[in-house]
Amino acid sequence: AKSATRFIADSNYFQRTMPKRNLDAHKGSHGKGLVIGGSDHMPGSFAMTLRAALRAGAGLITAASTEKVIDGIANLTPEAMYQTIASNDGWLTTGDLPLDGKDAVAIGIGMGRHADTAKLLQKAVNASACPLIIDGDGLYHLQNNLHLLKQRKHPTILTPHMGEMARLLQVDISELAIKPFHYAKVFAEKYNVYIVLKGRFTIITAPDGRQAVNTTGNQGLAKGGSGDVLTGIVLSMVMQPQSIFQALCNACFVHGMSADLQIASGHTYYDLLATDVIEGIAGVYRHFL
Ligand code: APR
Ligand code: MG
Repeated sequence: AKSATRFIADSNYFQRTMPKRNLDAHKGSHGKGLVIGGSDHMPGSFAMTLRAALRAGAGLITAASTEKVIDGIANLTPEAMYQTIASNDGWLTTGDLPLDGKDAVAIGIGMGRHADTAKLLQKAVNASACPLIIDGDGLYHLQNNLHLLKQRKHPTILTPHMGEMARLLQVDISELAIKPFHYAKVFAEKYNVYIVLKGRFTIITAPDGRQAVNTTGNQGLAKGGSGDVLTGIVLSMVMQPQSIFQALCNACFVHGMSADLQIASGHTYYDLLATDVIEGIAGVYRHFL
């Protein structure tokens, strides 16, 4: 087997690989993304993913969620398009997904663990003909559906934190913490997926075993919502003209650097919010223009 290339995803790498914006671009050039998630009980995380995807540069974002979630968040992000999916008690159930013509799909954010919602996850895994990002509760529902991953003909990206990764692997989190590179690589190769294993130093792994480490970010990110913002940035990045592996490295870099810039310019590790990380994306791009 060929040995893994490990390197630090750093600012030189981002400078070299940052997707350029052409003068004659139109919204279609920057990707049509779909975000599936939310529940009446957790509308906020879903809203942050949408906004982060748009700030990170996505051309068009469609948000599919419950009627109540959409009523509650549509005025916060009028730039997105919205589509209602059937729900039961406020949790998403299976329904028509607007998958046609999408360049990438993200699923799972704030979706909850209701058994009916698992069917929606299965549908997205089976029917999406583009890169699919699975995060949060989507990873919970994936647990019993891992066999579906091997049949996918398009890239699949999982974005677990250590607890979510340990559950997917069915190993103790303490065991995963000793050998995170090893476990991420074994899982990525076995299920043909990209893995963004999140933590202080996030490890990005490709299905062929390539691995990279991101070094941006700080303890201000240790707050609910930071991961939802990363998912939006990942969705946007995988639709830009670069490889999936590059897109994942760049997404983690931008997310962490945004938090670092916010700390350098007034915020503190205490007060930093996930929404500040969304607003900090502008500073990251400006730095490299
Ligand atoms: N240094 C650098 N980056 C950090 C640090 C740190 N000390 N702490 C967290 N981060 C980054 C991670 O790398 C990741 O990108 O913040 C993000 C956190 O993502 P998640 O762990 O997915 O957190 P989030 O989903 O926003 O909130 C926690 O996860 O366990 C579930 O349901 C639970 O609602 C909870 C949610
Ligand atoms: Mg999370």
